[in-house]
Amino acid sequence: ENKPRLPVLWLHGLECTCCSESFIRAAQPLAKDVILSMISLDYDPTLMAAAGKQAEDCLEQTIEKYRGNYVLAVEGNAPAAQDGMSCIVGGKPFSQQLHHAATDAKLIIAWGSCATNGCVQAAYPNPTQAAPVHKMITDKPIIKVPGCPPIAEVMVGVLTYLLTFDELPELDAQRRPTMFYSKRIHDKCYRRPHFDAGRFVETWDDENARQGYCLYKMGCKGPTTYNACATTGWNGGISFPIGSGHGCIGCSEEGFWDKGSFYQR
Ligand code: SF4
Ligand code: SF4
Ligand code: F3S
Repeated sequence: ENKPRLPVLWLHGLECTCCSESFIRAAQPLAKDVILSMISLDYDPTLMAAAGKQAEDCLEQTIEKYRGNYVLAVEGNAPAAQDGMSCIVGGKPFSQQLHHAATDAKLIIAWGSCATNGCVQAAYPNPTQAAPVHKMITDKPIIKVPGCPPIAEVMVGVLTYLLTFDELPELDAQRRPTMFYSKRIHDKCYRRPHFDAGRFVETWDDENARQGYCLYKMGCKGPTTYNACATTGWNGGISFPIGSGHGCIGCSEEGFWDKGSFYQR
């Protein structure tokens, strides 16, 4: 309780901002408690009151004051084409801000599929040459928290772990926290008994759909997707995509836009 709050700089690159939308809906703990009592969110162009020069000054002051001791959270990725001109922050290409803020960071959290694997911006033919954080920054510890967006409780769970233990959580080979990403959606899905029994939805809104049968034949990617949706749920645990009658599109898996989810190019 007496620990100083952990300084966090939260950058926004090429993204849709829905990782932040997810984060602010965290219920356990509440996002407001994370921001006001647990971390010191010293720079976040989406959530901070300051704007323009005042905001950019906050970034520089925090880097100066906490060299080597702040967490750099990154939402979105950095486009490399045309010298990074597809994403400008503070009058400069985002890639410059990312490299600058990463230099003295203690560690980096890559929020969401944009930052961890490129997501839709990096989908074929990737016209802006969008690159995920680990391809831009190679000399810092990175925690990847994929999902489009990630689950709010997973995001605050990662921050809470860092605050509590002051060390990286256990990570898998892809640098995802195993406490949230070690199981497939399919391993914990409540429709799994239907899969095992061969009971499948054959067309949208058929009688099998009304019975809540397995969505595998409708393209569900649960068998190849590692995420906590089937256990943690969304919106405070109320539901998740499969609970709403739509299969998982594998939004936390690398390159899901190009790997035959529900979208075709
Ligand atoms: Fe938006 Fe998805 Fe990227 Fe998050 S990962 S910023 S939700 S497109
Ligand atoms: Fe697996 Fe998807 Fe069927 Fe659930 S709905 S059992 S995740 S294939
Ligand atoms: Fe994404 Fe699949 Fe969960 S689409 S939100 S990983 S159920």
